[in-house]
Amino acid sequence: MPTMDFNALKQQAGEYAADLVESGMVIGLGTGSTAIFATRRIAQRLGSGDLRAIAAVPTSLATEAAAIELGIPLTTLAKRPRVDITIDGADEVDPDFNLIKGGGGAHLREKIVAQATERLVIVVDESKLSQQLGANWPVPVEVIPFNWESQAEYLRKLGGAPALRMAGEKPFHTDQGNIILDCDFGPIAEPAALDARLNSRAGIVEHGLFIGMARDVVAAGAGGLRHLRQSKG
Ligand code: 5RP
Repeated sequence: MPTMDFNALKQQAGEYAADLVESGMVIGLGTGSTAIFATRRIAQRLGSGDLRAIAAVPTSLATEAAAIELGIPLTTLAKRPRVDITIDGADEVDPDFNLIKGGGGAHLREKIVAQATERLVIVVDESKLSQQLGANWPVPVEVIPFNWESQAEYLRKLGGAPALRMAGEKPFHTDQGNIILDCDFGPIAEPAALDARLNSRAGIVEHGLFIGMARDVVAAGAGGLRHLRQSKG
């Protein structure tokens, strides 16, 4: 069996999606090793004059730094509350385009930008496609550090197995200074119900389930690139 060059697949998906951007648009710039290819391609198109008068809202401090280095003009949701298109990665994508995100710990800012977005385009290599969310990836749950153990207990009561995300010897901290519990629920029968239960808990700031938000999925695999479009909505 040929070995897959996942980096090349991510590049294909990211660059394809970047070509969906049009001059004059407000763009959400996603976070991660796939979305960065879209960001670089947008910068390239700006440089060549193929794209003009765009403004971008980054979804993490890392993406903001990359965009500044690449010369992409930035804006905020305060100045431009409506984002035309956001291109972002995902860790798991189900057949209804529900997502698990947050492998990079940026899901809070990613969701804030996504909910201001007209068209959320998800770019992945095909290994991220899944029949049921949770089959391959835990749900990242961002919690405030204050008495975080009680959120871990709540997640266990919901049937999950939470693990504190580490960065070396120390807990990983998000851009907001919070911590993350990666919570293995196994295959999730009702993602929308779990979304609601996580949303209702004080101390949980945000989680990586993105339900009904993505409109397009661009998936690159050994057999080529597929652009899947949401039929409803
Ligand atoms: C970061 C994310 C990323 O988009 C997700 O983890 C996918 O990353 P990658 O493209 O590097 O596999 O949600 O919080």
